[in-house]
Amino acid sequence: MLNAKRLRKFFLLIFVIITQGLSCSENEENEGQVDSSEPMLEFSSEELFTKPHADGNSFSCNICHARKEPSDDGMSRPGHDLENAYNRSNFKNGQLNTLLEAVNSCRKEWMNAPAFTPDQAAWLSLETFLKDLAVGKGSEIISYQIVSAPNDLTGGDATEGMNRSFHKVAPY
Ligand code: HEC
Repeated sequence: MLNAKRLRKFFLLIFVIITQGLSCSENEENEGQVDSSEPMLEFSSEELFTKPHADGNSFSCNICHARKEPSDDGMSRPGHDLENAYNRSNFKNGQLNTLLEAVNSCRKEWMNAPAFTPDQAAWLSLETFLKDLAVGKGSEIISYQIVSAPNDLTGGDATEGMNRSFHKVAPY
């Protein structure tokens, strides 16, 4: 016999089935479409490395980091290459423990973009790119020293500098 308690359970179950069913069919409809709330999803994994991010300034990762050094295009970049950064055990002179934290520090400080969240689709896609790069050298921790800009710029070769600068990588 159906008492009130059972009846309530029954309706709750029907409600769950209907709402779950609806959300599933919604997902199916959206498959293959770009989520307008995250415009970077129209980028491939690689483009998240080579193109400016939609929520940041005009810098892209590859302006400052080559895939490997020496780089195929012969450019000198301000950051280290990321060939096997995926497998490093810490980052940014030991201050950060995860790859996501390191990438986020570049997003915030250099690209004027908000931090990626760990489950954000654009991050997971960029992480796949960095994981695919991680086949060669470079998994050891890097340490570096930040020096102040030189006051005396004599002795340089402006033309050669322009040739090897990131203007060649991202001409905008
Ligand atoms: C304007 C320049 C700039 C941009 C743009 C930039 N970075 Fe960086 N990044 C640096 C510098 C400088 C460092 C300091 C250490 C170094 O040389 O790698 C760094 C450090 C890192 C590190 C940590 C390296 C280590 O082991 O300590 C990772 C990982 C990284 N960047 C990934 C990225 C990714 C991925 C992007 C794009 C989403 C990006 N960066 C964008 C300049 C930049």
